[in-house]
Amino acid sequence: MSLCYLNGRYLALEDAQVSPMDRGFLFGDGAYEVIPVYSRRPFRIDEHIARLGNTLAAIRLPDPHGPAEWRTIIGEIIDRNTWEDQSVYLQVTRGADSKRNHAFPDVVRPTVFLMSEALITPSAAVLDAGVAAVSAADFRWLRCDLKSISLLANCLLRQHAVDQGCVETVLFRDGFLTEGSASNIFIVRDGVMLTPPKSHLMLPGITYDVVLELAARHGLAYQVREILEHEVRSADEIWMTSSTKEVLAITALDGRPVGSGRPGPVGRQMYEWYQQFKNTVMRGG
Ligand code: PDD
Repeated sequence: MSLCYLNGRYLALEDAQVSPMDRGFLFGDGAYEVIPVYSRRPFRIDEHIARLGNTLAAIRLPDPHGPAEWRTIIGEIIDRNTWEDQSVYLQVTRGADSKRNHAFPDVVRPTVFLMSEALITPSAAVLDAGVAAVSAADFRWLRCDLKSISLLANCLLRQHAVDQGCVETVLFRDGFLTEGSASNIFIVRDGVMLTPPKSHLMLPGITYDVVLELAARHGLAYQVREILEHEVRSADEIWMTSSTKEVLAITALDGRPVGSGRPGPVGRQMYEWYQQFKNTVMRGG
């Protein structure tokens, strides 16, 4: 049974109820986070809470809790669920109003919801083979830096991949790489790791930051710069990164092999560094 949190109460997920007048339901008006938990310890929790704060501030939704309270609630959800490794989902909406009105209610009572699922990271077989991706034009809005629950465009773009038997859709806007439908994208060319700079066109991924830190720490050559579509299509390696996929090689793009068609050496190394880093952080607290 999965235990969730809704507006101050811990209860079984199937017993949680939200009003149909909730602005999250009517307008997709809210913010969310997905926090990976390894051996019952949340990974990069301060960074996730800080990003939540940034999204809430940008959408003018007063943060109903401070960082300390968020840590307590997240800790409770982890403790009250059974899995050692979890994926904690946290959502804050602008709450329910008495009528449907685009403009904000005078008095906002945010809806706060957290749930947890077993964290299933890519299996050894998937890591060994890599995954297939397709590409598409990035038709999302111009605030992709916010972790908004309005994810219809992302859902359409992810489904575009699934319809073609693929795992992710790599997005291009005006001839440049932005990110994936639910991941950030890195490429490797001539041994140099490349990824686009943070901007309003992509989510500032927590995993993205960890990968850049690991590259710097281990002396891997890398550049953070705008990446042209043709550079992605002729890359030696492409990886997707996210809290649940970690560092995962994309070995085919639009039906054509990426590099050798197998996960490349730089990506394998980064995956190893990521696992080592996870383990030290988990042991050290
Ligand atoms: N998605 N870009 C987008 C559009 C995303 O939705 C995500 C994560 C990322 C990677 O961010 P992070 O490294 O902080 O997980 C990039 C989450 C996992 C989701 O929506 O389920």
